[in-house]
Amino acid sequence: MQFKSMVISNVEVSPAYFRMRMTAPPAIVEAIPGQFVMVRVRDAIDPLLRRPFGIFDLGTFPTEYTDCGRQTFCEILYKVVGKGTEMLSSLHHGDHLDILAPLGKGFAVGDPADEKILVGGGVGLAPLYYLAKELAKNSRVRLFAGGRNKEDILCITEFERLGVETYVSTDDGTLGASGLVTEVLEKHLAEDTGRKSLFACGPFPMLKAVAGIAGRHDLECQVSLEAYMACGVGACLGCVIKGKNHSDQTPDFRCVCKDGPVFFYQDLKWD
Ligand SMILES: Cc1cc2nc3c(=O)[nH]c(=O)nc-3n(C[C@H](O)[C@H](O)[C@H](O)COP(=O)(O)OP(=O)(O)OC[C@H]3O[C@@H](n4cnc5c(N)ncnc54)[C@H](O)[C@@H]3O)c2cc1C
Ligand code: FES
Repeated sequence: MQFKSMVISNVEVSPAYFRMRMTAPPAIVEAIPGQFVMVRVRDAIDPLLRRPFGIFDLGTFPTEYTDCGRQTFCEILYKVVGKGTEMLSSLHHGDHLDILAPLGKGFAVGDPADEKILVGGGVGLAPLYYLAKELAKNSRVRLFAGGRNKEDILCITEFERLGVETYVSTDDGTLGASGLVTEVLEKHLAEDTGRKSLFACGPFPMLKAVAGIAGRHDLECQVSLEAYMACGVGACLGCVIKGKNHSDQTPDFRCVCKDGPVFFYQDLKWD
């Protein structure tokens, strides 16, 4: 869908991190956790390209926003890193955005009997909240959240309100355990050997480490990747990554936007 959306709120939840709620058509509630939106940050030539963001949350308002006639909303959680996100951060209630959504392939929820382990690095927590909301309906969910410092640890109380058990770590030890989120995860897995599946989103080195852990512990594992995107729908091939069968002789490329952003870790080449 392509639609005009009205900004409801745009709140700085931690330095440089914003949570934006905007109106969306009712069909948005069919979006699968892990799918994403492409946002045109303003009606001008610059910046030309839409910016991709994971769906942080979806829902319905108690009352209708009469100026746009919509009762459903979509939220994104984003970090200000450049021009587009800087512009987004300056928007207020009543401003409008042009959105393409929902895009890409989301997470497969798997067997409800499996415990679900979510692993988020920094703003990689963004698509994991909507996922946690869905998973917590039928499964036990734990979240391992990591960041460089306490300011990178976002919206943890929201996860806890869903009944999710949270394990926080920071590289500098300013919040939770000191060290990498993957170290905390590995320690937990060594102590608890029950059936579980992993869902991860964050920087590439973290995802690579999580994929390695999944391999060593023989766990099902899905990762949500980021890539530079122009079209978001599989037309420009600007977002390709190497698939598991890739070699110089037999190219195997996957579009992060259309074949992903969520992949089973075994489907990718991690070199
Ligand atoms: C499927 C998907 C989902 C995403 N979800 C989120 C989300 O939920 N929250 C969030 O904060 N960000 C998310 N991102 C990243 C976000 O799209 C970029 O941070 C944003 O486009 C940057 O725009 P900008 O104009 O502010 O920065 P630019 O001026 O374009 O770039 C500023 C800096 O950010 C880096 N950068 C820009 N785009 C990307 C990218 N796609 N991947 C990695 N680095 C990039 C550039 O190298 C540069 O260093 C997602 C990306 C993808 C592909
Ligand atoms: S962004 Fe164009 S093909 Fe993926």
